[in-house]
Amino acid sequence: MSTIEDLKTENLPRHLAIIMDGNGRWAKQRGKLRIFGHENGVNAVRKTVENCAKIGIDFLTLYAFSTENWKRPKLEVDTLMKLLVSTLKKELATLNKNNIRLNSIGNVQALPNKVYLELQEVMAKTKSNSGMTLTLALNYGSREEIKQAVRCLASKVKNNIISPESIDDTVINSHLYTHDLPDVDLLIRTSGERRISNFLLWQIAYAELYFVDAFWPDFSEEHLVSAILSYQNRERRFGKISEQLN
Ligand code: FPP
Repeated sequence: MSTIEDLKTENLPRHLAIIMDGNGRWAKQRGKLRIFGHENGVNAVRKTVENCAKIGIDFLTLYAFSTENWKRPKLEVDTLMKLLVSTLKKELATLNKNNIRLNSIGNVQALPNKVYLELQEVMAKTKSNSGMTLTLALNYGSREEIKQAVRCLASKVKNNIISPESIDDTVINSHLYTHDLPDVDLLIRTSGERRISNFLLWQIAYAELYFVDAFWPDFSEEHLVSAILSYQNRERRFGKISEQLN
């Protein structure tokens, strides 16, 4: 079994993003309600956050609630929102103990007020932490993010604030929710599904993708280490050829 000690510290993904999938199926396998899967998913979130901080990951981004997830049954959405509030409340001390800064991406103002306020509070109380940045994608959709950026840039062009020619990668980045985050290096999705599901479409342009069959509540240190070991064994060429690297 591989452990954190097997990782090469000099070649870690700087930004790791995770699509946490399979809570519902995990619960169904056990004859329980989907909510039971989400509750157990929180344990996997806690372990993964602590392990990533221990490994030395600088940026961890978790897809916690998408713009499409509102379409789920009301009971499930309500319980997920309650779970978010209780987890944020409970984990504040651990975030501070581990020097982790909480950040969020997505249309968070449209979340229920209780969630929004708790999120703001935990972000404010961890803002001076200088270790890992933990970003929760909440009410997040990549197309929505890109649409907003395009609208904002179009209006700046219309009002002669910027010229169309000045719009480059850096300018586009600065108009995304992720303006203060680097590109994603490694994207993990659990549960055996091999889709991106409207997550960080611009930011994963050069990311390495890793799919694992385990459902999210079962995602362990071993799965995390295997994903990073796989990343460390890949050659990232960014369009170049092998001989041009280094
Ligand atoms: C995907 O499983 C999971 C979600 C949509 C929500 C993720 C939420 C948590 C892990 C709990 C709260 C999170 C935090 C950050 C405290 P699914 O429901 O789509 O599973 P399925 O594909 O088997 O139906």
